[in-house]
Amino acid sequence: MSTPTDQQHMEKIVNLCKRRGFIFQASEIYGGLNGAWDYGALGVELKRNLKNYWWRVMVHERDDVVGMDGAILTHPAVLKASGHAEGFSDLLIDCRTCKSRWRADQLVGKKGARQCPRCGSKDITEPREFNLMLETHIGSIDPRSAATYAEQAAGLTSVASGATVESQILATRSDNQRLDVTRPAGEQIALVYLRPETAQSIFVQFKNILEVSRKKLPFGIAQIGKAFRNEINPRNFTFRSREFEQMELEYFCRPEQGMELLEYWKEERLKFYDDIGISRSKLHVRSVPDEERAFYSKGTFDIEYDFPFGRQELEGVAYRTDYDLLQHQKASGKSLEYFDEETKQRFVPHVVEPSAGVDRTVLALICEAYSEDQAPDEKGKMETRVVLRFHPRIAPVKCAVFPLLKNKELLVAKAKEVFDRLRPHMFVFYDESGAIGRRYRRQDEIGTPFGITVDFETLGEKDITLRDTVTLRERDSMKQERVKISDLIDLLSVRIA
Ligand code: GAP
Repeated sequence: MSTPTDQQHMEKIVNLCKRRGFIFQASEIYGGLNGAWDYGALGVELKRNLKNYWWRVMVHERDDVVGMDGAILTHPAVLKASGHAEGFSDLLIDCRTCKSRWRADQLVGKKGARQCPRCGSKDITEPREFNLMLETHIGSIDPRSAATYAEQAAGLTSVASGATVESQILATRSDNQRLDVTRPAGEQIALVYLRPETAQSIFVQFKNILEVSRKKLPFGIAQIGKAFRNEINPRNFTFRSREFEQMELEYFCRPEQGMELLEYWKEERLKFYDDIGISRSKLHVRSVPDEERAFYSKGTFDIEYDFPFGRQELEGVAYRTDYDLLQHQKASGKSLEYFDEETKQRFVPHVVEPSAGVDRTVLALICEAYSEDQAPDEKGKMETRVVLRFHPRIAPVKCAVFPLLKNKELLVAKAKEVFDRLRPHMFVFYDESGAIGRRYRRQDEIGTPFGITVDFETLGEKDITLRDTVTLRERDSMKQERVKISDLIDLLSVRIA
């Protein structure tokens, strides 16, 4: 249960994200689109740094993993074979009093009676299955019949009675879930899904990638990309969204390696979070009990994080056995077997899957980094400082460059020279407006780990030995050191690597 303090803490984080351009509500000027978010200038940098680091350790630094980037639009047959088209659902409950809609597990229970979390009413509907898949249609739609078509697709009406012959459309939903709409020209419009996870395109491309990469078991295929779920109740800021990104690895292996690799990947993934600055004390590994696990999984760990709104899943590490490949082999009629050169055996590999959410990890990074401390203002008086203590590796801006005064031409020119020198190596920000203390605060608030000030010493005006040196300030300790401009790239590159 989150306390009011946790809620206030979360509100501060949400406000900061908007105020400083990390995350905005999607379609905000039209009232917002629930469950969808836009990342602003700083949010997109943070997200990229996270994805790049994941890619680096999961693909580039390993010999046994290759990457792929699959399509979002997915053939219904893929998701029928995987079980999503039929069984990817949550239990839905409506409150008859306040008309709110909830996932069954979000209901609060008092003395055994379930109540609406918003108004407390016990007048709620029975739970019913709600499929989480989002669908769309491909093929050209005659604009004159589009409205009728949309209504039909949603199953709301039959063909409009007054429609002309050309604009009439006939819609049928056949057993294989395709919605075929035939217009007089004979064109067909087909239903396709927006993928609910990136994993399925990896399974479907398994054979192609195996043949091209010539990898031997165990080996993995990694992917980062968008996934879509029609969540009943998106909430907790970006935590549960309808459109989000995943970072998934499908690591194929022999059946006898599955349990050991499950353990291995759990440890690897915990190390990853440590390496991006998420403290181990706020991470928890939950071994998912038999009754909660997918029937085909022989073991699953949820890696959970202590968000201000409670302990919640960040990533799942699951041993999925040979279920997915077998399903696709059966449904497609194509062999997805692996041939072992040494033993001359053919078999369908098993798979261990670490599956992390990009948006959830970004949110965890922001929650982890947010802090307030006391720091002296321009006149030495202590004031509250808001600081995002991002690990330098994932911080959106790595370094800010400031001339001490903006009305001194030589200082400005030198600062711009330092700025240009650093730009090809890292994302740097130049700021000359306001008092230097204010400029530091603005950078602290967005988590910039280093600040460089070009002052009169840099120009060699006070002490010739200090010429072409700058002060380098570290965000968390606020300590300053004197550094040669020529050493900056090497020094900073090591600290942000
Ligand atoms: N391929 C396995 C799979 O998709 P999942 O537990 O449903 O497993 C994996 O999703 C991760 O994707 C979650 O741990 C979470 O980080 C992220 N995720 C899932 N649904 C999400 C949602 N609605 N909004 C944001 N992230 C989500």
